[in-house]
Amino acid sequence: MATCHGVEVVATLVAPFRARALPWDTFAPTTPGGLALPALGTHGASRRAMAILVTGGAGYIGSHMVLCLVRAGRPVVVVDNLSAGYRELLVEGVPFVHADIADGATMRDVIRERDIDAIIHFAAHTQVAESVRDPRLYWSGNVAATLNLLDAALASGVKYFVFSSTAAVYGEPERCPIDEEAPTHPINPYGESKLTIEQALADYARAYGMRYAALRYFNAAGADADAGLGELHHPESHLIPIVLQAALGRMSEVVIFGRQYPTPDGTCIRDYVHVLDLADAHMAALDDLRCGGDSGAFNLGTGTGHSVAEVIATCREVTGRPIAVVEGERRPGDPPVLVASPERARRRYGWEPRRSSLERIVRDAWAWHLREAAKSSHEPETRKAHAQHR
Ligand code: UFG
Repeated sequence: MATCHGVEVVATLVAPFRARALPWDTFAPTTPGGLALPALGTHGASRRAMAILVTGGAGYIGSHMVLCLVRAGRPVVVVDNLSAGYRELLVEGVPFVHADIADGATMRDVIRERDIDAIIHFAAHTQVAESVRDPRLYWSGNVAATLNLLDAALASGVKYFVFSSTAAVYGEPERCPIDEEAPTHPINPYGESKLTIEQALADYARAYGMRYAALRYFNAAGADADAGLGELHHPESHLIPIVLQAALGRMSEVVIFGRQYPTPDGTCIRDYVHVLDLADAHMAALDDLRCGGDSGAFNLGTGTGHSVAEVIATCREVTGRPIAVVEGERRPGDPPVLVASPERARRRYGWEPRRSSLERIVRDAWAWHLREAAKSSHEPETRKAHAQHR
């Protein structure tokens, strides 16, 4: 983890609240086990620290990020429009603004009121297949909305921007492991939308001095079940949650999208990285920027790949349950192998994905799925109400 000599980066939990006509929702309902913070106030702090704005903080990776920031004692504010986020993933006690990042006036107000000097930007559409079906969502929701957010950030003096990017910027890479110098040729609007923002960030950094890190995730997975956080997507398209749904008996079988790839067992290989390791990397990236680190792109993966068949085998071992599989068609746009070289993040940040063994990832994800299954069997109305009020 980067250290910041002589620069104070850890400070009060939550900045004092000043009432204004913003859609603040300070104490969001959380699942049992959610982290509880003291009520808003000065907490006896003699001076206020600059706060961090997490967009998409009610989403899968964003909520784990908020948890890590809170655990590290960083002042944090969440903005989410709840289009793909969930109130139940909000960390209790963290100021929450129910708003869209494209709403420049609200973003400027939030940034100024809360003394935000850094933004960690997760809010985005993230489904590859959807991006092909409905690219407008990605150009508008990922590109145009983020440009609005950047305008608000620049107008309000935000200095640091950590951007949630993706391995999809590489498209179908010619060699693996993939380092950051590999050509970027996205093959779907999702990857294009993320790469476009990376390019805007590079230009803005040159012209306006805002510093940024674009973090290119490989396959985010795992959960912090003790904190009530896990992977929640509707519809779910990711492999590990789908296999665990099958282990729970909620799906009759898992469809393996192709068994004739040029890999040892014929199934696609991916680089799975624990969501808490991803959150650590964001924290390290922000500290690095605050200490004068250069802007740039960083891969976040482990350097080790696992095939679809291996993932299913590990899920069978961890859950102790049978999981039926059938072979299906290849999914368009799936490269056979995607494995990161995480060396740049290792060198710059001292980042180690220490929770990212496949066994640990599946164990943590399974713990969360079991909790959710127990909850939904006891409280079906809550889940229904939740679905209606997203
Ligand atoms: N898979 C199946 N059956 C399923 C679901 C997935 O066989 O029911 C396979 C996929 O074909 C792929 C692997 O499992 O080979 C992993 O699939 P995921 O959907 O979990 O993840 P992807 O590798 O497709 O997607 C990840 C990120 C995206 C990013 C993409 C870059 O989640 O955000 O890598 O290619 F865009």
